Amino acid sequence: MTEQRAHYERGALPTEVQHEIARLEWADLVIFQFPLWWHAQPAILKGWFDRVLVYGGLYSGSRRYNRGHFRGKKAICSVTTGSPEQAFMPFGRAGNIVEWLWPIHSSLYYVGFDVLAPQVSYGIQGGGILYQKEAVFRKQIEEKKAIWAARLTTLFEESPIPFTGWEDWDEDGLLKQSHPIRWRP
Ligand SMILES: Cc1cc2nc3c(=O)[nH]c(=O)nc-3n(C[C@H](O)[C@H](O)[C@H](O)COP(=O)(O)O)c2cc1C
Repeated sequence: MTEQRAHYERGALPTEVQHEIARLEWADLVIFQFPLWWHAQPAILKGWFDRVLVYGGLYSGSRRYNRGHFRGKKAICSVTTGSPEQAFMPFGRAGNIVEWLWPIHSSLYYVGFDVLAPQVSYGIQGGGILYQKEAVFRKQIEEKKAIWAARLTTLFEESPIPFTGWEDWDEDGLLKQSHPIRWRP
């Protein structure tokens, strides 16, 4: 983190990292389009977070969460999964997509983004483990593309996922006793 801060302040970050930061500064809305790999984003995207969201530049102790660098900007994950939607339903074998996406959503909020509910396109499995016939699969892909395209037209009007913020926490970072969702024994 010390190295990241020093390189940011000296303008000495790798060119491709500077380029990615400039693109983030320019954007009002950032769409992360990725396939679910091993219940998470692919490692290359995890690496993008590690390298691009630099300490001292895009976050610091006092610039995090709802005081984060990117506050006022929106971010959304558009995720494709191989497993079909039923497998992600309660008791489903594929688990809970909300839990799988919690780390990436938390990281986006950490740097200040308003995080929109994810666009999850289930059952995008053209090869490997097949769940239906090719023609049915092709038709479903077109339907899912149309759903996503329709949502894109009104994305800016959506309310973000509600997270708690600095005003909700005490000095230890715990939800204040007075907070409405604080569990009390
Ligand atoms: C390395 C790897 C890991 C994967 N892990 C998952 C997984 O955990 N859950 C799932 O539903 N699909 C998984 N899949 C299937 C992909 O999500 C699916 O193939 C992808 O979303 C299709 O989009 P694409 O054509 O853009 O790759 C995995 C695929 C690969 C190659």
